[in-house]
Amino acid sequence: MKITFFSTKPYDKLFFNKYNKDFGFELEYYETHLGPHIVNAIDQTDAVCVFVNDKVNAEVIKVLATKSVKTIALRCAGFNNVDLEAAKANGINVCRVPAYSPEAVAEHAVAMILTLNRKTHKAYNRVREQNFSLNGLLGFNLFEKTVGVIGTGNIGHAFCKIMLGFGCKVLAFDLIANKELESLGVSYLPITEILPQADIISLHCPLTEQTHHLIDTETISMLKKGMMLINTSRGGLIDTNAIIKALKSQQIAYLGIDVYEQEEKLFFRDLSSNIIEDDTIQRLMSFPNVLVTAHQAFFTEEALSKIATVTLQNVDELLNNKILTNKAALLA
Ligand code: NAI
Repeated sequence: MKITFFSTKPYDKLFFNKYNKDFGFELEYYETHLGPHIVNAIDQTDAVCVFVNDKVNAEVIKVLATKSVKTIALRCAGFNNVDLEAAKANGINVCRVPAYSPEAVAEHAVAMILTLNRKTHKAYNRVREQNFSLNGLLGFNLFEKTVGVIGTGNIGHAFCKIMLGFGCKVLAFDLIANKELESLGVSYLPITEILPQADIISLHCPLTEQTHHLIDTETISMLKKGMMLINTSRGGLIDTNAIIKALKSQQIAYLGIDVYEQEEKLFFRDLSSNIIEDDTIQRLMSFPNVLVTAHQAFFTEEALSKIATVTLQNVDELLNNKILTNKAALLA
């Protein structure tokens, strides 16, 4: 049985080849994104394996069905880039890796907070040039600060626990309150009550119609002046143009983003010799208080191992009509 991979990087091949020894699939790797531009060119295959920026819309799915594809396997948790209704209509299963390492993403969100706050990236460069001055490196204690967490699923849950460990007051908003977090001291409040109180807000909800541009001009106007916003979820959760205005007015004093609405044209590539046409990301990167990482929150040894094993297991179980071990993996 064959699995065709898209958006493949060297590290994907490394981990999938290693764990495929237990499954014995034929693995075919494409570096390009899956999308309408390439789908006609692929050979017959049993499953396609895609990542966050592959475009698996109705047009692509219709062609996949003609190539005998029975399973679309997402090697990530988010699935906003796949048309699930079109997959169901064409009899194609869709699976994902629901919780490969929530800690990996939560810890990266914390790394962004600490970098923006304590400016270790600046200190590193400074000291290497024998500049031992502290001017401009002033930070603040996380202890006793108020942290707002939007979405307390797998990642938000891990993030809340870390922030409680720093001695922060943690306020959360989710459609369902998590009892364990409440018992640990997290308070669930309506989002409109969290926005004005939080010194730091971290977004951990999925991108849906309801959460698209959750942070826009209206919600920004409710934020505590001088706050820090962290987004490791999906770029579409924030209206970037509204954020740029808020950074200019200093309503938002620190921004850490691991995701960006137009990231598919930029992230996961070396564009160091190219002219970047996206003026919005260039403007964002020009602020000294903005930290952009290129969708790397998931990128740990443990997470890549789990992604490879769970994806191969999902495909094996779906293609061979076995009972799915991980029920939450099945989307369609
Ligand atoms: P999850 O499904 O475990 O948790 C999501 C939580 O958000 C749930 O508790 C859900 O009730 C809540 N939620 C849904 N709609 C909401 C709304 N309108 N308002 C508030 N809360 C809402 O997902 P998980 O694993 O925690 O991942 C969260 C997101 O993180 C994913 O959807 C994905 O987009 C992103 N992600 C980013 C990665 C990266 O490398 N930057 C890696 C993995 C995931």
